[in-house]
Amino acid sequence: MSIVKSLVKPVGRNVRDLMLICGVGPKLDEQDRRVLDETIFPYLVGREDLKRVLFVGCHWYTWHYKKTFADKDFWTLEIDPARKRYGAKQHIVDSVEHVDQHFEANSLDAVLMLGVMGWGLDDPEVANRSVENIHRCLRPDGVLINSWDDVPEHRPFPIAELPAFGRFAPWPFPPFVAARFVCEEQDLQHTFDFYTATK
Ligand SMILES: C[S@@+](CC[C@H](N)C(=O)[O-])C[C@H]1O[C@@H](n2cnc3c(N)ncnc32)[C@H](O)[C@@H]1O
Repeated sequence: MSIVKSLVKPVGRNVRDLMLICGVGPKLDEQDRRVLDETIFPYLVGREDLKRVLFVGCHWYTWHYKKTFADKDFWTLEIDPARKRYGAKQHIVDSVEHVDQHFEANSLDAVLMLGVMGWGLDDPEVANRSVENIHRCLRPDGVLINSWDDVPEHRPFPIAELPAFGRFAPWPFPPFVAARFVCEEQDLQHTFDFYTATK
């Protein structure tokens, strides 16, 4: 059975990826994705001062984000080389911990790190260093959106309490008028935290 699965899985993945490329691919039907597509991304795209945007962590359901941000200087970064296929043209294969090796200080306007902590970025020291290095690369008042699942199996440490978030101010995100939005319809309780970089 597992041999059959291991033969069928890559075929299914390639069919799905081909459908994505043809613009008829599936979309993840979850509240967090709707909130992103309908509220968060349109706001960010509409902000003319947010030109250089880094999106961390790529998966099949993030494939179309490069189209959403087509008018921006849009970059993606993902630790898994195999997921380069879901990234932007300007893609970096590395851990977000090393973001400062790829971008100059104060050179990014926005960093979107969605569902990475608790999904691979599980060591609090590495996560803290990642947030510090993101802060270094963001310009003053640059935007960080960090999202995570508020359930024990994907909350390996108190995520929002990392000391490096002290370098940021909570940002009441205009469409929500709040610096946090919790997707309460979702079992994973996906939580968006909004920050601006203080320098
Ligand atoms: C649950 S997926 C989230 C995908 C996407 N960011 C989103 O919108 O949901 C987590 C992704 O983060 C990647 N990841 C985990 N640790 C990472 C790290 N240290 N640096 C960069 N990417 C990492 C994983 O390989 C995986 O593709």
